[in-house]
Amino acid sequence: MQEWDFYNRYHLKYGRFDNTDNESVHNTNEAEKRFYQLITENSGADKYLLDMGCGDGIFTSLLVDLFDKCTGIEPSGLFAEALTRINQVNSSSLEFCKMDAKQTNFKNESFDIIISRRGPDPVNEIFRLLKPEGKFIFITIGEKDAYKLVNAFGRGQMYGRDGRASEDLKRKFSSNEFIIDSCEDFFYEESYDSIEKLHDFLKRVPIFEDYCKDDFLFLEKYYHENRKSDNSIDLSRHRVVLCASKI
Ligand SMILES: C[S@@+](CC[C@H](N)C(=O)[O-])C[C@H]1O[C@@H](n2cnc3c(N)ncnc32)[C@H](O)[C@@H]1O
Repeated sequence: MQEWDFYNRYHLKYGRFDNTDNESVHNTNEAEKRFYQLITENSGADKYLLDMGCGDGIFTSLLVDLFDKCTGIEPSGLFAEALTRINQVNSSSLEFCKMDAKQTNFKNESFDIIISRRGPDPVNEIFRLLKPEGKFIFITIGEKDAYKLVNAFGRGQMYGRDGRASEDLKRKFSSNEFIIDSCEDFFYEESYDSIEKLHDFLKRVPIFEDYCKDDFLFLEKYYHENRKSDNSIDLSRHRVVLCASKI
């Protein structure tokens, strides 16, 4: 069992990532804005960026003009999608490799910046790959993400998780020779116009990795208890954005 199995299944079923959803690259929530701001603040025409768990590579391809070179790594079937970006941006400074972020074959101290957008954060490998004073910039899921829904279902990505994700991240990186530049929590609501829209969304994200059509009955109950007067329903989201420097 690999941590990217969900994305292998996703790729087999849907063929490609659907970037029209709420997790799209055009997302304008404050957490994504902060993540992008940290990347631009630390960019440079002489800098080399690595994107760990780049998925279909769309986000990586948006960064090519900010860096000398951008490499995305992705072990799942989505890697095939990422490869198609190279022709689209027509830039020799974009590259994708099929690799597990925990065990890459890049040389020590290869990168100025490593990013992960809801992907993995293998601290030892990040430390090995970053140049001195290099930065790791990370946006990840917080413990309160979709908490009302996962509590109602009694299962899910963050169900029963103890402690704060931001505190755990700070501990993990500061005890591994990084300085924490910033680590911020972001809470926001996503609105779905109808139960069908929420159902479609849940099929395509790993909030419940095993979400299936039988869950619709339970979702209906949740929807009727929580919908708003205009029949839309909110989903509470929680993201953590970390910026850590290698000492
Ligand atoms: C939520 S998706 C995000 C994809 C992409 N970063 C984006 O923003 O669209 C997480 C990605 O991390 C990848 N992933 C999970 N574990 C990984 C690992 N150990 N090494 C590299 N990638 C991994 C998954 O296959 C998946 O594509």
